[in-house]
Amino acid sequence: MKVLVTGGLGYIGSHTVVELQNEGYEVIIIDNLSNSSIEVLDGITAITGIKPQFVKLDLKEKQQVEDFFKRHNDVRGVIHFAANKAVGESVENPLMYYENNVNTLVYVLKEVLSLKQQNFIFSSSCTVYGQTDQLPISENAPVQAAQSPYGNTKQIGEEIIMDTCKVKPDLNSISLRYFNPIGAHPSAKIGELPIGVPQNLVPFITQTAIGIRTQLSVFGGDYPTSDGTCIRDYIHVVDLAKAHVIALKRLLDQKNKTNYEVFNIGTGKGSSVLEVVNSFEKISGKNLNYKIVDRRKGDVIAIYAETKKANEILGWKAELTLDDAIGSAWKWEQRINN
Ligand code: WQD
Repeated sequence: MKVLVTGGLGYIGSHTVVELQNEGYEVIIIDNLSNSSIEVLDGITAITGIKPQFVKLDLKEKQQVEDFFKRHNDVRGVIHFAANKAVGESVENPLMYYENNVNTLVYVLKEVLSLKQQNFIFSSSCTVYGQTDQLPISENAPVQAAQSPYGNTKQIGEEIIMDTCKVKPDLNSISLRYFNPIGAHPSAKIGELPIGVPQNLVPFITQTAIGIRTQLSVFGGDYPTSDGTCIRDYIHVVDLAKAHVIALKRLLDQKNKTNYEVFNIGTGKGSSVLEVVNSFEKISGKNLNYKIVDRRKGDVIAIYAETKKANEILGWKAELTLDDAIGSAWKWEQRINN
């Protein structure tokens, strides 16, 4: 059964390809390599022993997208990761984000409608919730005005899919709202490859510990939380990848209740920045050089998932802990810098 993974050489995409292959799916990857490298293909192959088919293609090229689907009309499911995802960059360059994240979704979704089986999994984000005091946050919490063009592209993406599902009963889609993906495959053959200075917490921690960065800046120590630092729901990328396979299977087996569903994919547990730092120091045995500095604009104080719907309806639950994720991130950092 052939499954298309767009952005399949990216961080979450590559881990999902591994889990799809582990479940016996035939995977074809589209990636434009703008935020990933071809070596990831070797990493996937080294883990599963199966080299996925790979097509280098920029989904902004509408004609190329149409030609691809003409050649591969036997695709039975599409998992759509391909998008830019740096919050700060999206503020500086909104048009790049709307073109790359929204136009490409429209081009791919239009082609999905030409397939015999129209199953579409969308990579969404807890960013759509903005700042909320209803914690843990559930799927029916109101989607608030996005705090960044990146977050807005996820909100718009969900609406595009929802509106299309309303008039295309043969289209079956699930949006997965991720919380904070961290960690790497336990084999350390694939992991997160941030380009330039990492925006996210965990790669910054591991790069500081390995000596690429001199000091971690903790953005804010005066928030109304247990230790003054922001709280997030950090989910192991392998648990997140498995959620995609379960969501796809739900559609392939026609178990979905309506043709558009949304699930939070998180652990349901909130961890502060300092708790993450402490986890790293415990796991690595190293003291981390960090300094508490001013707050970062746009950060929400706290957010973590209500996971009941994913646990009880989707039939998925996070199994790995924060320490598991931090340990795998550190093992990966050491491997790519040895
Ligand atoms: C986590 C916490 C920072 C870096 C974003 C996107 C989200 C998803 C994940 C794509 C915050 C603090 C961070 C640092 C720090 N991206 N921090 N020092 O902002 O929760 O989520 O990335 O899907 O959509 O919004 O993740 O890792 O940047 O920050 O203190 O050097 O770590 O202030 O409290 P975030 P993050």
